[in-house]
Amino acid sequence: MENKISELRAAAAEAINSAATNLKELENIRVKFLGKKGELTTLLRGMSQLSAEDRPRIGKIVNEARAQIEQLIAEKNSELKAKELQNKIASEKIDVTLPGRKVHCGHLHPLTLTLNRVKEIFIEMGYSVEEGPEVETDYFNFEALNLPKDHPARDMQDSFYITEEILLRTQTSPVQARTMQKNSSNAPIRMIAPGRVYRRDDYDASHSPMFTQVEGLVIDEGITFADLKGTLDYFCKKMFGDSAQIRLRPSFFPFTEPSTEVDVSCVMCHGANDTCKVCHGSGWLEILGAGEVHPKVLQMSGYDPEKVSGFAFGMGIERIAMLTYGIDDLRLFFDNDTRFLNQF
Ligand code: FA5
Ligand code: MG
Repeated sequence: MENKISELRAAAAEAINSAATNLKELENIRVKFLGKKGELTTLLRGMSQLSAEDRPRIGKIVNEARAQIEQLIAEKNSELKAKELQNKIASEKIDVTLPGRKVHCGHLHPLTLTLNRVKEIFIEMGYSVEEGPEVETDYFNFEALNLPKDHPARDMQDSFYITEEILLRTQTSPVQARTMQKNSSNAPIRMIAPGRVYRRDDYDASHSPMFTQVEGLVIDEGITFADLKGTLDYFCKKMFGDSAQIRLRPSFFPFTEPSTEVDVSCVMCHGANDTCKVCHGSGWLEILGAGEVHPKVLQMSGYDPEKVSGFAFGMGIERIAMLTYGIDDLRLFFDNDTRFLNQF
């Protein structure tokens, strides 16, 4: 009996030390030796056959063996648990020194940025923002602007016609007539109208068949050419910086009288560089056409030219963006090359 017990104890110790590589195996070993049907338990049951004097002695040895095996199991248990935790930590390790993955984020197109800035400046001055259709009638695009059919000045803007009476608008000026006609007569107006316009122009470094204009129209009592000049000067200084200057050249538009084309001083080279990509050394770049609203245009849209006067302007957003960002070819705005667009 005593031999059996020490054999059992040795076998259990051996199993625990070498066989148990995880908690589940260890539990199997515990059941094998100490469980209800385990080997030590079975041995204990056989004690009833022992003599009364042997029983306490053997009983003591069995209990000692049990306590020893339990102790070994407990030790192995905590050893295995520590190991498992170690493995878990190792497998879930995060290297906080690894550089993060960059999230690529889209952004506004340079023309949108420029347009937003132009709008901001005029909204601050109290202008409202009006809209008109890109597919426009001949009446609003030309006739209501003092350009009757067969007027030679229609040649200034080669047009995409859809039918005899409908075309893609060549300018944002039709929004002038639309705004005047929806207003009650002689009510003051201070508005801008941004939008796309279309012309049969050859695609080159400074022309696109589709481009963006911002129209401006102010009508009230006593509006003069000086108001126009002051407004455009203020706008250019806000847009291009305090050192920016404007230059007015006499021009012709059927819907304004007198008319002018406005250049802004080159903010890239200030006229000092013959190889300047933006102004080509002239020091100036044309950005808009303007003038005092023609009395006939006021009359056609229900305003009394004896009571009110006004000024109007139409600027090219691509040209303004070229000047703002120092870009020598407006086709870059339409190529959708991300190497270009990512720079803004
Ligand atoms: C006009 O379109 C007039 N409607 C402007 C106007 C409005 C005058 C109100 C008087 C009163 P113009 O054709 O010059 O004018 O064009 C105005 C601006 O649009 C030009 O100064 C230029 O900056 C821009 N522009 C003209 N054609 C093109 C083109 N093909 N591509 C890019 N920008 C252009
Ligand atoms: Mg022009």
